[in-house]
Parts: sequence; structure tokens; C-alpha cells
Amino acid sequence: MGGARFYRGATETEEHTVSQIDHTREHLIETYRKKAKHYDITSRLYPVPGYPQRAQRLRAVQALGLHAGDSVIDIACGTGLNFPLIEEVIGPDGRIVGVDLTDAMLARAQARIETNGWSNISLVQADAAEFDFPAEVDAILSTYSLSQVPECAEVIAHGAAALSGGGRWVVLDLKVPGNTPGWLAQLGTAIVRPFASIDEWIMRRPWEAIRAAMQGELAEFSWTELFFGTAFLAAGSRGPG
Ligand SMILES: C[S@@+](CC[C@H](N)C(=O)[O-])C[C@H]1O[C@@H](n2cnc3c(N)ncnc32)[C@H](O)[C@@H]1O
Repeated sequence: MGGARFYRGATETEEHTVSQIDHTREHLIETYRKKAKHYDITSRLYPVPGYPQRAQRLRAVQALGLHAGDSVIDIACGTGLNFPLIEEVIGPDGRIVGVDLTDAMLARAQARIETNGWSNISLVQADAAEFDFPAEVDAILSTYSLSQVPECAEVIAHGAAALSGGGRWVVLDLKVPGNTPGWLAQLGTAIVRPFASIDEWIMRRPWEAIRAAMQGELAEFSWTELFFGTAFLAAGSRGPG
């Protein structure tokens, strides 16, 4: 897989050093290394206490329309919070590949896999933009992550090309609600985006690129705004053939 390596814990050999990754990614990795240990607890308060993140996550997994035995790629899987929801449907005959840039997040995902005794999940440490999707996957999911990837449109295109006929691509992420004054958007995103340039994220409006890419690449495209427009669920499928 281009720029990727299978995650096997602390003993694996580096194929790509951090020096090859640009400054933004270095900063992002450092930020998530610090967050990893307590991510499962702090994420319950993400982006703010009381936010219906778990309900949104469940909705995203349901939108994949999974069946027993399906193969699923979880892009920027973090500590694997989606894994139990996916496992519940695909069962032991299914397969999950979790992809993430940050070693420490993958270490927590690995611990989750071992605790639950799942033998059908593999983890790949890679930049989503460089991940070489395996062919004919049934579903691809990305939750609260893709807007952090500058090449999100390319990731969507690569994933769409790898889907089997009828396979589903689902993205759940945060956004700035429409008609939000600039100062309020900055305040809100200061809370939820401490790792990156807030101005850059607001200016870039990645949810628009994600929407356009999903609409362009997939059939049966749907776009649902959640919780007063602070999040979105984008979904689509690969047409037969
Ligand atoms: C907010 S966490 C979300 C994790 C998980 N998807 C969830 O729903 O809990 C964002 C994750 O995206 C990962 N990430 C950010 N940019 C990435 C990239 N370019 N390629 C792969 N992973 C990336 C980070 O390492 C981090 O684990």
C-alpha cells in the first residue's frame, strides 16, 4: 500500500519517516499522540459536552447498510470507536481495515481489538491521501476525520473506485452551520479544532469539498445536516458495474 504500513505495535520498522510528512501532518500527529490515551473518554465530550456524538456515529454506521460478512474500511479510524458498531453487523465472517496516520491512536485501537478478541480487523498506519484501497470493498466509513485531510476529495475518489457494485461510502463530520457570523464560527471551531489553524479550516470549508466529491463520485448521494447544521452525514453508493 502506497505510503502505508501494517500496524503491528511498537516493534515494526518505519518505512516512512515523519520528515517526509509536511508540517501540518507532523503537528496533527503530535496532537493526536497527546490525545490518544484519554481519547475514548474525552471524545464523549466532543465537540462539546452533551453533543449527540454517539447517536451520530450510530446513524453513520447504519447508513452503510451493512450485512453479515461485509468488508469495511474505516478511514482515520482513531482508537476504533466505530469497530463495535460495525462488528455487531458484519460478524466474524466480515472484515474491517482501520487506517490512521497516528501511531498512538492505532495503539489504542489495537488494544480494543485484543480486549474484544476480534480476529477480523487489521490496522494500517497511513495517510488517508496515500492509502491504496483494496478492491471490491463493501463499505467505507470516515467519522469526524475527513475534514482534517486536505486531500479529502481525492480520498473520496480513491475509495469510490475501490467499492464493489452497490458498495456504500459514508462520511460523518463537523461543519460550520450556514449563516453563522464569522466571529461565532471562530469561537466554535476554536473549541473543536485546537490542533489546526481555525481560520484555515473555516476558510477551506472542507465539508463543501466533501459534498461535491461525494456527489460527483457516487450514485444515490444523500446529504443530511445534523444538530443545527454543526455536523453532516454524507452518503452514496457505487452504481452496479
Ligand atoms: C477526531 S479523531 C476521529 C477518530 C475516529 N474516526 C472517531 O470517530 O473517533 C481524528 C483522527 O483522524 C486521524 N487523521 C487525521 N488526518 C489524517 C490523515 N491525513 N490520514 C489518516 N488519518 C488521519 C487522526 O490521527 C485521528 O486519529
